[in-house]
Amino acid sequence: MTRRAIISGTGSALPRTCVTNEELAERVDTTDEWIRERTGITMRYIAEHDELTSTLAIDASRRALEAANMQASDIDLIIVATATPDQTFPATATKVQAALGNHGCTAFDVAAVCSGFLYAMQVVDSMIRANSATNALVIGSETFSRILDWEDRTTCVLFGDGAGAVVLSAQDDAGDNTGILACQMHADGRHHDLLYVDGGPSTTKTVGKLRMKGREVFRHAVVNLAEVMRETLAQAGLSLADIDWVVPHQANARILDATARKLGLKAEQVVVTVDKHANTSAASVPLALDTAIRDGRIKRGDILVLEAMGGGFTWGACIVRY
Ligand code: COA
Repeated sequence: MTRRAIISGTGSALPRTCVTNEELAERVDTTDEWIRERTGITMRYIAEHDELTSTLAIDASRRALEAANMQASDIDLIIVATATPDQTFPATATKVQAALGNHGCTAFDVAAVCSGFLYAMQVVDSMIRANSATNALVIGSETFSRILDWEDRTTCVLFGDGAGAVVLSAQDDAGDNTGILACQMHADGRHHDLLYVDGGPSTTKTVGKLRMKGREVFRHAVVNLAEVMRETLAQAGLSLADIDWVVPHQANARILDATARKLGLKAEQVVVTVDKHANTSAASVPLALDTAIRDGRIKRGDILVLEAMGGGFTWGACIVRY
């Protein structure tokens, strides 16, 4: 009997305040035209002081539970993927757990930056297959606006805040090949200095700010993402022709286009939300997934490829039949 992790509900949450490129250009030495042409971004949501990584995660989780028709007490595993936790410890997942009113289930954070949600999906998939979890809440939530250097126009225009959540449930006889079919995660720490935060408790005792060599990141992203998508499809015994939707990490419209072109996928098969949300790091894949499920693009039975690449470098892909 095959035991698989199926998607039983999704949800997402954005901060109240939207900042357009024009509004940003009043504070930063940039233009709407530059941002739009280089990245496809037109606006992003920025958290106010009372909006935290945990509060966005809680809102997204409530919506995902509602979509799954479940109570918080049905959940036995909570994972928050984030690089911007409320505090260094305890894990933001424990704050989410307490707010939802679930007491006692396993709850922890995963840190793999923009690939964090994909890493968390693989952990949940493994735990569900191993009978260590039945209903898991896996969340990507970030407040990157708090670690941006607002004086550095090469990075601060690229990111936004938000959260996405997915309920993954065990299905004991997934004979129809539903749910997570394959996951492949990678990391290469030699590229640590191309995308990182210049602070931390054990180095500077400060939180630090995001630093990035954009050009090099771009180059690695296209190569790594195309490769890991092929590898994951092969693991699932599928081909590129079987894909209905790619739900990519929303870093940059040009990375999405270049990756799709490299694989020969049609632009219409790629879910794009970077124009409205900018790069929300670990939140971007579940946010895009929830958007495309709620607007009716993604339907039950569709084959999805979720993929991401981020600081570390870390990267990975996951094939799911929705
Ligand atoms: N507004 C206006 N001008 C800007 C600017 C901004 N926000 N940021 C940089 N520039 C200027 C630079 O100063 C430079 O000017 P110069 O030629 O006079 O020196 C020029 O634009 C080109 O800068 P460069 O950094 O070479 O641009 P680029 O074509 O590489 O585009 C990125 C920059 C960041 C958009 C691009 O490298 C990229 O998308 N990288 C991937 C980043 C990413 O998605 N990372 C997250 C992965 S998880």
